[in-house]
Amino acid sequence: MNAALLLDHLCVSYRSPTGSVPALRDVSLALYDDEILGLVGESGSGKSTLAQAVMRLLEPDAADIRGRVMVGDRDLYGLTESELRQLRWRDVAMVFQSSMNALNPVLSVQDHFTDTFWAHFPTMGLADIRRKTAVLLEQVRLSPRVAQSYPHELSGGMRQRVVIALSLALNPRVLILDEPTTALDVVVQRSILGQVAALQRERRLAVLLISHDFTLVSSLAHRVAVMYAGELMEITDRETGLENTMPHHPYTTGLINATPRIFDDQVRIEGIPGEPPDMAHLPVGCSFYDRCPKRLSICRTTPLPQYESRTYIRCHVVGTQRVEGDLAHER
Ligand SMILES: Nc1ncnc2c1ncn2[C@@H]1O[C@H](COP(=O)(O)OP(=O)(O)O)[C@@H](O)[C@H]1O
Ligand code: SF4
Ligand SMILES: [Mg+2]
Repeated sequence: MNAALLLDHLCVSYRSPTGSVPALRDVSLALYDDEILGLVGESGSGKSTLAQAVMRLLEPDAADIRGRVMVGDRDLYGLTESELRQLRWRDVAMVFQSSMNALNPVLSVQDHFTDTFWAHFPTMGLADIRRKTAVLLEQVRLSPRVAQSYPHELSGGMRQRVVIALSLALNPRVLILDEPTTALDVVVQRSILGQVAALQRERRLAVLLISHDFTLVSSLAHRVAVMYAGELMEITDRETGLENTMPHHPYTTGLINATPRIFDDQVRIEGIPGEPPDMAHLPVGCSFYDRCPKRLSICRTTPLPQYESRTYIRCHVVGTQRVEGDLAHER
């Protein structure tokens, strides 16, 4: 399988007057062609930092970045500014958190598309651009007439569809969606994400879908990566199970139990007790230790193992159970 996007031991620390604070800790992750990879975790766990580091949007003055981000065979951090401008949108496009509010209020929807096409193809004719815009709008279930509207004339859901259509304008191979529907109601959320999934299948896109909502993401994603305190704790897939019937990392189990399920009204919804650790003073062992119902003394003192496989669980207790389960399955 080809990795469309590869994060190789990526570390990000934000600089602050009192020293540097880690936000992303040694993250290795492959996003393959023709898959939706979900990235979930509580607010502040480092999801947007990961997306911004992948797009090389973090200012070197503000953040210290180590590791590599490979797009195909190109290291994004080895590109010149002009090579990077070419790569953004054409190879990797991103829908930012809250981007539906970032459309320029004095430009029509058509103007947004025209500017995007002209930034990459300055000689493209207007008739061609209008035709391409109409097709893109239809692909996100909007009438081509929307091209004449201004952002304030559209609902939140419509604006978000416009932003998604814009991100697909240059036919990227990789699409990163950071909380694309968080501000929208559940029905609109489902409809937009269903459309994203259809477009992913049609275009065989590699999609990184970022959200704090495990249930929402796991209903669409082929694999789900779970992030806690700036590191990946688990990657699970449909085969290994996205439900609570399979052993998961205790933090993933907490996330699943903390989310209401529509067809399962018998289950009590339980939050995860406690708070994430102080990122400036991280423990040597597992960063989930203070909140974990399964912790043993080894967890406090022994660093978690690192894996680079398609799926894994980084936990001294459950990780072993999963490995033993997989071995039993193979026998
Ligand atoms: N520009 C910044 N400067 C300093 N710290 C930041 C900055 N952006 C994010 N952080 C910190 O990095 C951590 C991860 O934030 P973020 O990536 O936004 O998480 P998420 O998207 O999962 O909510 C948080 O502790 C946040 O306060
Ligand atoms: S390593 Fe230990 S503390 Fe960490 S999640 Fe696993 S059981 Fe809990
Ligand atoms: Mg975020």
